[in-house]
Amino acid sequence: MKAIKRAIVCGSTDGIGKAIALSLCKEGYAITLIARDLRKLEIVKSELDKLNSNNHFFIQLDFNQPESIKPSLAAVENWQATEFMLINNVGGPMPQNILECEIQDFQSVFNKYLLSFSELSKFFGSKMKKANWGRIVNILGTTILEPIPGFSLSVVKSATSNWAKALSIELGKFNITVNNVLPGPTNTKELDEIIDIVSKQTGITREQLINDTVTRIPLRRFAEPTEIADSVTFLCSDKAAFITGSNIKIDGGYSTCL
Ligand SMILES: NC(=O)c1ccc[n+]([C@@H]2O[C@H](COP(=O)([O-])OP(=O)(O)OC[C@H]3O[C@@H](n4cnc5c(N)ncnc54)[C@H](OP(=O)(O)O)[C@@H]3O)[C@@H](O)[C@H]2O)c1
Repeated sequence: MKAIKRAIVCGSTDGIGKAIALSLCKEGYAITLIARDLRKLEIVKSELDKLNSNNHFFIQLDFNQPESIKPSLAAVENWQATEFMLINNVGGPMPQNILECEIQDFQSVFNKYLLSFSELSKFFGSKMKKANWGRIVNILGTTILEPIPGFSLSVVKSATSNWAKALSIELGKFNITVNNVLPGPTNTKELDEIIDIVSKQTGITREQLINDTVTRIPLRRFAEPTEIADSVTFLCSDKAAFITGSNIKIDGGYSTCL
């Protein structure tokens, strides 16, 4: 019987997550999309179906409610697959100064990243252990290494990176790798919204902000979502079998730390 490899791609109706779903689909994996908006899920699923008929489907989930994840997955407990890969990804927090962050702002980001990623990894990690093979990739950002003023809620991404390192140590003996991909500025809806917010906060035009940021990127441009997706696809492949517990920057050299 042909091995079924299923990739669960979260936040996959837009931006980086959607590019990852399309890239893994082209590699022949069966895709499970996860996001909140039903209409967008249906549209992306039909795009996958046009690429191949590998039994793609979607689950509507809101990472603001991590406690809803386990019951939602129970409905698909017996799905067919021999090998699983899990891409933990969700829309990021918008810029906010530290002194303006309320308790619920931190709690919301904590729910969307650490708690949701953990719930999904518990569910699929147990399936990966049975198969003695697995891949978990978390999409975070270079702010986990180098804080950017105004992006204080990204501290939760750093906590998630710490959690992922511990997870990689626990799961390594089961031939499961766990890595974090850290995009720099990437042409997506989220980046567009951030530029708008910062422009309103500072009075600097969008064009000037884009120009200032691009000037700080050695490769002098933003990434395309497909470029982040290519790295994730590599990490999911057998060619990346010995990479685990790593933070992998895909930022055109934007981050100044080593
Ligand atoms: N773009 C950049 O420049 C950049 C740079 C560094 C790091 N990153 C990080 O990369 C990740 C992806 O960013 P992106 O730019 O691809 O974002 P994006 O274009 O805004 O896409 C976000 C995706 O997540 C889904 N989503 C949002 N909130 C959700 C929730 N509560 N529950 C479930 N799904 C949710 C969205 O679909 P629904 O709205 O339908 O739920 C959408 O599919 C984020 O962590 C971001 O911070 C991005």
